[in-house]
Amino acid sequence: MGSFCAQVYDLALAPFEAVRLTGLRKRLLAGAAGRVLEVGFGTGATLGAYPGHVELVALEPDAAMLRQARKRAARLKAPCRLLLGDAQHLPFRDGAFDTAVASLAFCTVPDPLRGLREVRRVLRPGGRFLALEHVQVSYQPVAWLQAVATPLWKRVAGGCHLDRHTLETVQAAGFTVQVARHHWLGFLLVVEAVRM
Ligand SMILES: C[S@@+](CC[C@H](N)C(=O)[O-])C[C@H]1O[C@@H](n2cnc3c(N)ncnc32)[C@H](O)[C@@H]1O
Repeated sequence: MGSFCAQVYDLALAPFEAVRLTGLRKRLLAGAAGRVLEVGFGTGATLGAYPGHVELVALEPDAAMLRQARKRAARLKAPCRLLLGDAQHLPFRDGAFDTAVASLAFCTVPDPLRGLREVRRVLRPGGRFLALEHVQVSYQPVAWLQAVATPLWKRVAGGCHLDRHTLETVQAAGFTVQVARHHWLGFLLVVEAVRM
């Protein structure tokens, strides 16, 4: 993303946080428990939404974003381990976590199927995957516009794709989806899934 993007990221998201995102994050993460892994942590926008009792390990591949996340964690006095790392190659043993979380992350992970398979691998059997993602809508011409805009958008927005089909990718990675809810005319997707 680079240092400038990392510094303006929270500002750019602030109106969306105020209208809906923060509420969706809180509702989703109320279900996090035990040892929790979050991938694509960014500047740590989810930090204030976790219940107090979780043991959070968060990974982010961009050093500038991670620096912002560390500042936020210090400000909120949030106990967590923040590490530089890629969702496609998780440095953890199989079954190491009770819950895995992704928030607006799999739009940007270059190979989302690989990343989601890694997330599944590090969850224990019965462990839950909680995700809030923006996705391609199911109706035209908006879906077409998202696909057409993506090549340019991903160049200016740190690799973000507007045309991902994340629900299908979660299923392809082997998760059993328990809840899939769409918000904002289908742009936002909330998924709760289990590693059987
Ligand atoms: C749109 S931001 C979302 C940040 C934050 N999770 C949020 O909810 O605001 C996408 C994040 O995914 C990260 N990312 C990109 N490639 C990744 C990868 N291979 N593995 C994990 N995260 C990745 C980016 O660096 C960026 O911080």
